[in-house]
Amino acid sequence: MDSAIPQPTAPLSFSTLIRTASHEQHTEAETSTFMSDLLGGRLGVDAYARYTEQLWFVYRALEDGAEALREDPVAGPFIKTELLRVAELERDLAHLRGADWRERATALPATAAYAARVEECARTWPGGYVAHHYTRYLGDLSGGQIIRGRAEKAWGFARKGDGVRFYVFEGISNPAAFKRGYRELLDRIEVTVPDQLERHRIVDECKRAFALNTAVFQDLATEFPHAA
Ligand code: HEM
Repeated sequence: MDSAIPQPTAPLSFSTLIRTASHEQHTEAETSTFMSDLLGGRLGVDAYARYTEQLWFVYRALEDGAEALREDPVAGPFIKTELLRVAELERDLAHLRGADWRERATALPATAAYAARVEECARTWPGGYVAHHYTRYLGDLSGGQIIRGRAEKAWGFARKGDGVRFYVFEGISNPAAFKRGYRELLDRIEVTVPDQLERHRIVDECKRAFALNTAVFQDLATEFPHAA
């Protein structure tokens, strides 16, 4: 074959597609005022506790919906016990907020909207659920580790101890290998979801998931304006 003839570009794998499509929004979330202030040491542990509380509402929606999806051909392969975070969040919240944290926990408006969307996807649309699953868990296994390090340093939590257990995946000894396996699962969506349009809808839902996260950061920034 004449190498001078341009070859058609190989189609992007689904894991590359979803990562590339959400790249810009990832930067937006990462550099949001709340995240920057939190990681820049400009906020107190109360802001970190409030953020952790918001995550509890989101992960309850993610994980309450998981069991019913275990046998689902699209979402089922992603449901893995070693990812589950609600128990860790509850331990962190007891540490951060005291034993009665549950009675005082409230979802910010953006958190309630986010959790409601996750719950709706879990109930009605396995592909959409995968988009939310990816956005949270792969993020927690990646940037989450940076957040843990900063939180331990800023507020004096024991390394991988109470307060930051959410970021510690005891059942995942090699996060890099786990993430590789996860991306392979994402790529298999091309088989379980053969309709390209439907795959695009999943990518769009991932973008929506990022936007829902950014909205939570905005609500948190309103509640915790740092003293300039
Ligand atoms: C300050 C906050 C954040 C930092 C420092 C951060 C940092 C990172 C880093 C370094 C990676 C790349 C890891 C790798 O290639 O293995 C990553 C990946 C990722 N992050 Fe974040 N992140 C932050 C916030 C977020 C937020 C808020 C979300 C969404 C809720 C998120 C979702 C993701 C996802 C889904 C990936 C995986 C991308 C892929 O490889 O497909 N991140 N993050």
